[in-house]
Amino acid sequence: MIPFQYRQHALFAEDLALEEIAARFGTPTYVYSRRAIVDAFGEFRRAAGARNVRVCYALKANSNLAVIDLLAREGAGFDIVSGGELQRVLAVGGAPSRIVFSGVGKSEAEMRMALEAGVRCFNVESESELLRLDRVAGALGRRAPVSLRVNPDVDAGTHPYISTGLRENKFGIAHDAALAAYRTAARLPNLEVQGIDCHIGSQITAIEPFLAALDKLLELVDALHAEGIALRHLDLGGGLGIRYDDEQPPSRQALFAAIFDRLDRHPRGGSYELVFEFGRSIVGNAGVLLTRVEYLKRNGEHRFAIVDAAMNDLMRPALYDAWHAVLPVRQRDDMAAQHYDIVGPVCESGDWLARGRRLALAEGDLLAIASAGAYCMAMASNYNTRARAAEVIVDGRDAHLVREREALASLFALERPLPR
Ligand code: LLP
Repeated sequence: MIPFQYRQHALFAEDLALEEIAARFGTPTYVYSRRAIVDAFGEFRRAAGARNVRVCYALKANSNLAVIDLLAREGAGFDIVSGGELQRVLAVGGAPSRIVFSGVGKSEAEMRMALEAGVRCFNVESESELLRLDRVAGALGRRAPVSLRVNPDVDAGTHPYISTGLRENKFGIAHDAALAAYRTAARLPNLEVQGIDCHIGSQITAIEPFLAALDKLLELVDALHAEGIALRHLDLGGGLGIRYDDEQPPSRQALFAAIFDRLDRHPRGGSYELVFEFGRSIVGNAGVLLTRVEYLKRNGEHRFAIVDAAMNDLMRPALYDAWHAVLPVRQRDDMAAQHYDIVGPVCESGDWLARGRRLALAEGDLLAIASAGAYCMAMASNYNTRARAAEVIVDGRDAHLVREREALASLFALERPLPR
């Protein structure tokens, strides 16, 4: 299914016109397609076939409760990176036994919360973290299930800000230090070694980096096996890319087939459960940001469309120079297309959503910023005391408001002037 497409020159989300959504909920509003989310997750399930695979949805991509709930109902596990994300999964009744807890800086309070909830595994990133987790688990009278996040020193070929598997990144335990860390984990009384994990980056559009990382993990798995440290699962992280423009990411089928093939050639490859932590590839292309053109303006030769969404709503262009397609919600043939920079009202030159796009536009028109399901609302802020956008999930002809637009008063409700 193509979740967003034109019918008689009007852009639809599933069977509902985006114009209707704007009329009902206002702008800026994030609009997601239920079917697109379910289908993207389902494709991973189909690609896994009868294999022992657990796809954990990386909440950080889009942590709206409705999205989490939808994926929990589809059988997803969850990859969390904070106590807050844990609370979100628990709030929708997601199973703690399907949660992996990633992240480079888990606090003691977060560890306690996760141990009490009974998460499936802690993806540990340093020897210090092992020691802390052992202590916290001991105090609670529990054993913490652990996996060590290994930094395989593989180049994922992606943007430097979202590449995580290189030696110079802050993430994971260096490949050549991993064996020693596993020995530490194995002798600590309140830890139980369960697996090994890595995550080499995000928006990866080739299969090879995943295979290179897998090979590095398998080397360690063999060395651990020789020492009598047995693992139950291999977690290859997330990172599968999506199409924003003309990228050609591998299909889920092709990626999984290549990984299974590699494992089948390893003596014990078939015996491990495989875990993944996909975020973007599940929700990225399931959403758009609906925004209205406030003003058209010309400075010299440069044309700007000033819209009511801004970098605080969608910061990927400002932060990563990211490219998102911009679609007119109603296609016009009554005026000539011009090249526009699509910019927001925030007082920064970095406040842009797209540059040099050829569009036929009038003030008041609606635009949809595409591929906005992942790392868009999740990274939104209140900069310039702007209320965060509403979020809507479309299901066929129905639209469900899954997050209200923030009320302005709530933006400063926690603040206090000094006493007079
Ligand atoms: N697991 C770990 C440990 C991660 O750090 C991440 C993402 C994922 C899984 C999920 O990766 P995905 O499948 O979504 O690529 N804000 C950036 C992306 C940051 C990704 C951070 N880590 C962006 O907007 O492109």
